[in-house]
Amino acid sequence: MAFDLVFFGGTGDLTWRKLMPALFQAMRHNKLPAGGRILAVARDERSDEQYREFIRERFAEVEPSKRPSDEEFARFAAMLHYRRMDLSQPEHYAGLKTWLDERNAETAVLYLATSPALFTVICEQLGRAGLNGPHIRVVLEKPLGHDLESAQEINRVVSAVFHEKQAFRIDHYLGKPAVQNLMALRFGNALFEPLWRRESIANIQITLAEELGVGTRGDYYDTTGALRDMIQNHALQLLTMIAMEPPSTNDADAIRDEKLKVLKSLRPFTAETVARDIVRGQYRAGTVEGKPVPGYLDEVKVPAGSTCETFVAVRTEVQNWRWAGVPFYLRTGKRLATRDSQIVVNFREVPHPIFPGTSRANKLVIKLQPEDGLELHLLAAKGGANNEALAPVSLDLDFDKAFPSERVGAYERLLLDAIAGRLNLFVRSDEQEQAWRWVEPILDAWQGDPNGPRPYAAGSWGPPAASALVARDGCAWAEEQ
Ligand code: BG6
Repeated sequence: MAFDLVFFGGTGDLTWRKLMPALFQAMRHNKLPAGGRILAVARDERSDEQYREFIRERFAEVEPSKRPSDEEFARFAAMLHYRRMDLSQPEHYAGLKTWLDERNAETAVLYLATSPALFTVICEQLGRAGLNGPHIRVVLEKPLGHDLESAQEINRVVSAVFHEKQAFRIDHYLGKPAVQNLMALRFGNALFEPLWRRESIANIQITLAEELGVGTRGDYYDTTGALRDMIQNHALQLLTMIAMEPPSTNDADAIRDEKLKVLKSLRPFTAETVARDIVRGQYRAGTVEGKPVPGYLDEVKVPAGSTCETFVAVRTEVQNWRWAGVPFYLRTGKRLATRDSQIVVNFREVPHPIFPGTSRANKLVIKLQPEDGLELHLLAAKGGANNEALAPVSLDLDFDKAFPSERVGAYERLLLDAIAGRLNLFVRSDEQEQAWRWVEPILDAWQGDPNGPRPYAAGSWGPPAASALVARDGCAWAEEQ
């Protein structure tokens, strides 16, 4: 299938750090449909050759096993083209249309890897230039808006130009293999469904922990913060996949209808519940992997006295029959003890313990990264001579080992899906707006709160108040259990 893939923001970080390496991997895995052209669009003047050279140099920063050989790069580079565009100039869109029409590929994917401030301008211009026909798809990178109003404004412009079926809103977490496995675990197996409810589950914890700080993105991050950067999108998307009802089919809208219901069932926050059920933090200097690291306020491009949160822990509930009363804890942060993203489903304790000593509830750990796997924690008899306490054991499944040649990265998967027109792993406008609706009272409450975020040492698990948040319900975070 011939396709054209156009990257607006063609010289930006996202394009060379994530998108080009992902496309290269897709080519290496023979997954990229033949006959594709990749066009990078940006402000400055360069030839195709100069752009290819720019990308070739950037590949040096990719991890060694993912770097192309000379022969591979030559094949990849043959697909790469470059075009200078001033995004406010209608004639530049007309020129792009001519370039695309010349070949009239079956599919043209227009990927907006620019600042979101440009999304509406670009979409309007695309519409005026007639670059919105049924074979065209538009991919929008997060952050999609800053709050409900700005998200609605983007969606209003996008929907004036494109049909919802042409709009591919990226949440790259949905492209992670572990997240697709969550669907498989829940709806491809009958085992867990009878247990997947309030009667058997005590609480659910979603942790997206990063070891890195904000690096050189201080200016972007400071106007965003952890709530908008990770919770509004990635953590809530994971929550919907854990909590959703079984969809009637595996079609995009059947799945997204169920996810939307979950978002609508989340308990809304008030100023009082924000103060009670949310902990926000900001890292101070500390030690990560044995090395001293600066605090957030000393990072480059971070304004003095910033009250931007780099850590958030939230306690929420899904208000429906399946989940009433079950706490869902969401937690994310920069400069935490380790890079570790996982979902822990804590089951209830046995109703009447008959074994001496150890009593520990079962838990299912869905590991997103760095490993991609499942652990089911049980108690077992050690088989010794005495009447010993039961010992904790776990059944471990490592998907990288189980399917060594099949795993593809999140962006690779999402780019291939966008080219193929599969919307399952993309976010619909109503889901995205509902997520903002839930987040907004939190942002409002923080704005009126003079206390600001709580400090935590880089390399720790966040402010102690985050432990107190779960301890209140008699729970503990996974690393404290
Ligand atoms: C992005 C955030 O969406 O996700 C970043 O903007 C964050 O701040 C990143 O570092 C984390 O993604 P991953 O795939 O490395 O967990």
